[in-house]
Amino acid sequence: MTRESMDRLFNPRGVAVIGASTNPAKIGYRIVENMVKSGYAGQIYPINPKKGEIFGHSMHASLADVDGPVDIAVLSVPADHVLDAAAECGAKGVAHLVVVTSGFSEIGNLEGEKELVALAHAHGMRVLGPNIFGIYSASSRLDATFGPGGILPGHVAIITQSGALGIAMIGKTASESLGLSALISVGNKSDLDEADLLTYLADDPETRVVLLYIEGVRNGERLVRTLRSVTRGKHVVVIKSGRSARGAMAAASHTGSLAGADDVFDDIMRQCGVLRAESVQEAFDWVRFLSSAPLPSGEDAVIVTNGGGIGVLATDACEKYGVRLYDNQPVLASTFASVMPEFGSSKNPVDLTGQATGEDYARSLDAVFGRSDMHAGIALYCETALFDTQQFEAFLRSVYERYRVTKPIVFALFGGERIETMIRELRTEGVPVFGDVYEAISVLGALYRSWRRLKESDVEEGPPISVPVAEIRRVLQRAGKEGRGFLLAHEAAEVALALGLCMPRAILATNLDEAVRAAETIGYPVVMKVVSKDIVHKSDAGGVALNLENQSEVVDAYQAIVRSCLRHKPDAVIEGIEVVEMVRAGVETIVGARQDASFGPVAMFGLGGIYVEVMKDVSFRAAPVSGREAREMIGSIRSYPLLLGVRGEKRKDIGAAADAIIRLGRLVAECREISDIEINPLVVYDYGEGVKAVDVRILFHTQGGDAA
Ligand code: COA
Repeated sequence: MTRESMDRLFNPRGVAVIGASTNPAKIGYRIVENMVKSGYAGQIYPINPKKGEIFGHSMHASLADVDGPVDIAVLSVPADHVLDAAAECGAKGVAHLVVVTSGFSEIGNLEGEKELVALAHAHGMRVLGPNIFGIYSASSRLDATFGPGGILPGHVAIITQSGALGIAMIGKTASESLGLSALISVGNKSDLDEADLLTYLADDPETRVVLLYIEGVRNGERLVRTLRSVTRGKHVVVIKSGRSARGAMAAASHTGSLAGADDVFDDIMRQCGVLRAESVQEAFDWVRFLSSAPLPSGEDAVIVTNGGGIGVLATDACEKYGVRLYDNQPVLASTFASVMPEFGSSKNPVDLTGQATGEDYARSLDAVFGRSDMHAGIALYCETALFDTQQFEAFLRSVYERYRVTKPIVFALFGGERIETMIRELRTEGVPVFGDVYEAISVLGALYRSWRRLKESDVEEGPPISVPVAEIRRVLQRAGKEGRGFLLAHEAAEVALALGLCMPRAILATNLDEAVRAAETIGYPVVMKVVSKDIVHKSDAGGVALNLENQSEVVDAYQAIVRSCLRHKPDAVIEGIEVVEMVRAGVETIVGARQDASFGPVAMFGLGGIYVEVMKDVSFRAAPVSGREAREMIGSIRSYPLLLGVRGEKRKDIGAAADAIIRLGRLVAECREISDIEINPLVVYDYGEGVKAVDVRILFHTQGGDAA
C-alpha cells in the first residue's frame, strides 16, 4: 500500500459518517459530535436518509449527494446495511472504510466480512475494522471515534485490538495528560492490520512511541518483519492478553509442546526490540516516559537518596530492570564530597541521609548531570519531619525542567498525604514521578532496553549461512513418495549432514555380520537402533541398545532388538539395524525449528535431556535467526551457566550451538514443507570441540497431505 493511500486515512480531506443520527443515544451521533468538538480540519459529511441537521452540519440523504472529496467513510449502520453502504462509498471514490459496525467474523459471520473486503478492494478501498470504535489522528485533529472525547494531541500512537479497553484508554490518557498522535481501533483486522499502521506511523514525525494492544496475532511473519524495522527508529510497547497456559499449542514435538503460545510471543517481541508491558498501567507509565525522555548517552545511572533502605530497594530494582549503576568509587567520592553531609555515603546509591534538604538534592543532581560519564539520574525521597515538602516540590520541578531534555531522570517519593498530592500534581505536569521505586526504575529500564535496540547494528557478522535446499528436498520427496510425513533416522541424518551438522558416525547393517563389521569400523563402544518405518518409538519397542563394548555384546543386542521389535509389532518390516558411535558426555541441549501457527518459521533452543518437558528452559526466535540472535537465545535460558562452565569446568562451545540454531532456523524458513525439525539432544562439548546432533527428527508436509 502506498504511503499516499495511508495518508488519506490519517489526513483525510473529507469524512462521511454513514448512519449519523440526531439521537444522542446513537453511536452515529457521538462520532459526529467528537469530530466537530475535536476541531477536525477537513469537511464533515453526515449521511442519513431522513436528512436534518447535526452540530450545524446538514445531513445528506446519500453519499451520492456529496460534492467534495471523501477520503474516509465511517460506517455506523447495522450489519445488514453495511454492504450497500460500502458499495455507495466505492461509487463515490472513498479511500478508506472505517467500519464501526459489529456482527462480522467476531460472531462467526466470516462470509459477510469476506464480502465486505472483496467489495472494498474491487473499488480500490481499504477497510479498517469492522467492529471498531473508530480512529483519532492528531495531525488532522480528527476524532472519528465514539469515545468520551477530550483526546490531547501528543507523541504516542495507540493501536488497539480491544474496543472496550481502547475506549477506556481515551479517558485514561486524558486524566493522565498523555498526548496522542493517533489512536486506531483495528477490531477484526479484516484488511488493515497492525503492520500496515505501524509502517505508516514509523515515518510519522509526531509519533515517538507506539503502544500496541494485541489479543491474537494473525500474519505474524509480516508483523515481525515490520516490528523489527520500526523499532530501529521508534519505541514500541506491547500489551498482550493471554499469558496463561490456555493458549498453549498442541503439536507433535517438543518444539511444539514446549512452545506455550505466550512464551513464543514474549521471546519474539524481545527479538523485535518491542517492550512488553505486564499491565495497562505499566504500559502507560512506559509510553509516557519514552515519549518525553531524552535518549541516554550511556549506561551508567546514579541513585540519589535520603534513605539507605529505599536506596537498596532501588539497587535491586535496577538489577531487575537492567539499569546499570555508575561504579567508579573514587570519582563518586570526589564528585559528592562537597555536596553531602559528612556522615552521608558517596557510594552509588548516594545517600544524603535523613537530614538532606531540597538544596542538597539539587546540588547532588547538578553534580550527576555535570559529568558526562553519569548518564541518568534516579532521585528517591522518603518524607521526613525535617523536610519542607513545598520547597522540595519546587526544587524537583526545577531540576526536571533543567535536565528533561539532556538526560533521563526519574523520581520516586514515599510518604503520606502531602507526598501523594505532590505526586499527583507533578504527574499531571508530565514529571516522571512515582510512588514506588520499582515503578520509577521500570520506566528507566524500558528506556534503556529500547535505546539499546535503537543503536543496534543490522549488519550481520560473518558470511551468511546457506542451506542446500534442493538436496534436502530430494530426501523429503523420496520419503513423501512412500506416503510418509516423517523421515526415518538415516534419512534425517542425511538431512542433518547436508545441513552441515556434526552427527555421530553411523552405519546401517542389514545382517549380523554387517553389524559386527560396522561396530569395528566405528570403534567400541557403540549404540544399536532398529530402522523400521513401522516402529516410531524405538525405545518402547526394545529397539535400542546402548554402550555395547565388544563383538559378543553386539551379536546379543542385534538378536535381542529384532526379537523384541517383532514381539512389539509382529508385522513390522525391519530395514536393518543402525550401528552408531556412542557419543561421549557433554551438556545436553535441544534445538528445534518449526512452522508456528501465528509467527511462521520459529527456532527454539533449550536445556535438553530427559527433564526438558519439566524444566521448559527454552527460548524462541522468529527464523531465520542471526548470529547475534542465536547467541542471545542461548544466553537467555536459565541453565546458561552450564554452558559457561560451572565448578571449574571449561566454557562450552556456544558458537557451535549457535551455528546449529542458525542452520535449523534457515532450513524451516526456506523449506516451508518442513513442519518440525528437532535435535534432542544436541550435545555441546568444551570450547573448540563443537557439538554433536545425536537424535534428529523431521516432520514434513507431503504435497497435498499433512505431516504424520
Ligand atoms: N445510510 C445512512 N444512514 C442510515 C442508513 C444508510 N444506509 N441506514 C440506516 N441509517 C440511519 C438510521 O436511520 C439511523 O438514524 P436515525 O437515528 O436517524 O434513525 C442511523 O443510521 C443508525 O442506524 P440504526 O438502525 O439506528 O442503528 P444503531 O445506531 O442502533 O446501530 C451500529 C448501528 C453500527 C452502532 C450497531 O449496528 C452496532 O454494530 N453496534 C456495535 C458497535 C460496536 O460496538 N463496535 C465495536 C466497538 S469496539
